Amino acid sequence: MKVLSIVGARPQLVKLAPIAAAFAATDHEHVIVHTGQHYDADLSDVFFSGLGIPDPDVHLGIGSGSHGVQTGRTLAALDPVLAEQRPDWVLVYGDTNSTLAGALSAVKMHLPVAHLEAGLRSFNRQMPEEHNRVLTDHCADLLLAPTEEAMRHLAAEGLAARAVLAGDVMVDVCLRVRDTVLAGGQPRFELPEGIDPDAPYLLATLHRAENTDDPRRLATLVAALAELPVPVALLAHPRLVARADEYGIKLAGGSLHVGRPLPYAGMVAAVLGSVGVVTDSGGLQKEAYLLDRPCTTLRPETEWVETLHDDWNRLVPDPTALGGQGWVETVTRPAPSAGRGTPYGDGRAAQNVVRILAEHAR
Ligand code: UD1
Repeated sequence: MKVLSIVGARPQLVKLAPIAAAFAATDHEHVIVHTGQHYDADLSDVFFSGLGIPDPDVHLGIGSGSHGVQTGRTLAALDPVLAEQRPDWVLVYGDTNSTLAGALSAVKMHLPVAHLEAGLRSFNRQMPEEHNRVLTDHCADLLLAPTEEAMRHLAAEGLAARAVLAGDVMVDVCLRVRDTVLAGGQPRFELPEGIDPDAPYLLATLHRAENTDDPRRLATLVAALAELPVPVALLAHPRLVARADEYGIKLAGGSLHVGRPLPYAGMVAAVLGSVGVVTDSGGLQKEAYLLDRPCTTLRPETEWVETLHDDWNRLVPDPTALGGQGWVETVTRPAPSAGRGTPYGDGRAAQNVVRILAEHAR
């Protein structure tokens, strides 16, 4: 069997790591196509080197642009690649513009498409990621769902016959890297200047269009983080830095200390060193959950609803609505004492994915 993975953005590289390792342990052929949606070394290269992912076989060099430009360029660039490779499966990951372009290109070429992380829904039609997920699920031939909840969403949309519960490959990589970090084998990682790694700190990220692209909303969120009584390590995505510059919003100040994004092992170590996480990232919400840290999510909804059980994760669409004290109490609440089940699987999802693809190959 020949499988062609299409990736382009940071969270897809994290998911690619366990998949590439699972393929490497078999006789199947695995081809990696990087669209180049993310091109900064901090968002791309360090994930290949840090997670031991083989270099991409093809790099499309797409770069940034409006949704139409980015998706359209990727579509056009994929045609000749897929025509030449003719894989048994095109595997697309998650919910980015690279995912949608990969799925569309493959169906147009009559190549079977599998969608990893199928069935996630925020039910928020304003989010670009939601359009990408829904459209990708409806055009893919095989839907690899990470959770029972995702299976229910697919069934509700009439897609049950194409859906298989595979588990969440992010558990595979997160737990493996956690064990390396705890064994003392992690490389040094740099927290923002002014953060003492041995004193309590909160770890924060902010990058979603809904939060970064509205100047008033961005200013409110930055002010809310800056006024917290605990130092906040903000690992700033290039999108956040670009928008803050454009709107004249100063990110550093008060409790807020700004640094660059971290490689994966550094991120896991930084979560383990923190007293809690504040974020709008899907992946980081789940990493906080898997690493036993309380999370506050700066969004009105989450796709990873399992993290909300027992207050491991709390949704805060608007910090000002909680009042100063309520906001502080929310983000600084201690980790719940309740244990969690394993709603995201047992850390062997990538092997399941390879097996399911082989079983369903034409
Ligand atoms: C994308 C995904 C999102 C994912 C996120 C992870 C879409 C629609 N969104 O969001 O689902 O959670 O990646 O990071 O696909 N930029 C750089 N350097 C880079 C990449 C981006 O400077 O390497 C800046 C550019 O200003 C660019 C902006 O970030 O215009 C947005 O990048 P884009 O790829 O459109 O979306 P992300 O916000 O990264």
